[in-house]
Order: sequence, then C-alpha cells, then structure tokens
Amino acid sequence: MQGKISVLISEEKIAARVKELGAQISADYQGKELIMVCVLRGSFLFFADLVRAIKVPQKIEFISCSSYGDAKSSSGEVKLGLDISTPLDGKHVIIVEDIVDTGLTLQYIRDLLAVRHPASLDCCALLEKPEARKVPVKVEYSGFKIGNEFVVGYGLDYAHYFRELPYIGAVVD
Ligand code: IMP
Repeated sequence: MQGKISVLISEEKIAARVKELGAQISADYQGKELIMVCVLRGSFLFFADLVRAIKVPQKIEFISCSSYGDAKSSSGEVKLGLDISTPLDGKHVIIVEDIVDTGLTLQYIRDLLAVRHPASLDCCALLEKPEARKVPVKVEYSGFKIGNEFVVGYGLDYAHYFRELPYIGAVVD
C-alpha cells in the first residue's frame, strides 16, 4: 500500500487525552464495576490504552461490526461479526469505538446491547466527525472532534493498512 501520511494527532496528544478519558471514567464509575466492550478491529489500540488508564474493576469483551469494506465512505449497512459472550443484565457497560462517522455503527451496537438490560450504557469514542453524522447517537466520552476527512493509524485502517501507526494521520493522495 502506497501513500503519504500527514500527522493529524500526535502520539503524545493521544496519550494525554487517553489519560484524561481514563481519569474521567474512573471518577464517574467510582465504586462500580465496568464491562468494557472493544469494537474490533479499529479500537484495539485505543482500547488497550484506555482500559489501562481506568482505575475501577473491569471485565473485557469484544464485538465486531463492519460497514466499510475497502471503501473510504460508509456502505450504510452494518453487519454484526462477533458478538460479546457475557450477559449484560444489571451491568455498567461502556462501548469503546475508534471513530464515530455517520453514527450508524454505534447506533446499531447501542440498540443491540440496550435490549440486554444493562444498568447503564455509555460510549467512549477516540474520534468523532460531527459533520458526517447521519443519526443523532450519543457519545458520552469523546477524545477528539475532527473534520470530514479520512484518517488512519492508531488502529484505524485504509483497506486494512496503516493500523500500526502510533499517531492519527490523514492519507495524502
Ligand atoms: P459509522 O458507522 O459511519 O459511524 O462508521 C464507523 C466505522 O467506520 C468506524 O468504526 C471505522 O471503522 C470506520 N471509519 C469511519 N471513518 C473512518 C476514517 O476516517 N478512517 C478509518 N475508518 C473509518
């Protein structure tokens, strides 16, 4: 895969923001236990850093959805791949997303998990693209708001490449 990447959010800025999000979640959930749901695959690095920044007891779950394929714009259709394996009844749940673009994926996951009667259901997203939003879905913990551009790195891919970059970058055509 060819292409130049320009750095949009540095490794240092990401690390500092992840610490803040972890501190905020730890304060909000003090005395409670969390089920942290990693939305594969894009959230895997953010998730790994975030759970280590949260200082309340946690259980870890994984879910996978797809709507993108190899294109840079959403197909609009969300498909469930892997589902979580634990009951959520009476539990405090946080969905951890890499990026909320149209909002369709997050809305799908929220609806899927809400009917399992969790005590609370929040979302923590590293990135949001407010201009691209098609559905008014809630993001309780938001890392950075960016413009309507396609970004890669820190878990995010373009055609399955660039996930390993330690920063968030934009692909320069
Ligand atoms: P949504 O359903 O349109 O909100 O899209 C959510 C999913 O699309 C994210 O979890 C990402 O996997 C992918 N996505 C959206 N925007 C980008 C981007 O700029 N770069 C890489 N993946 C993206």
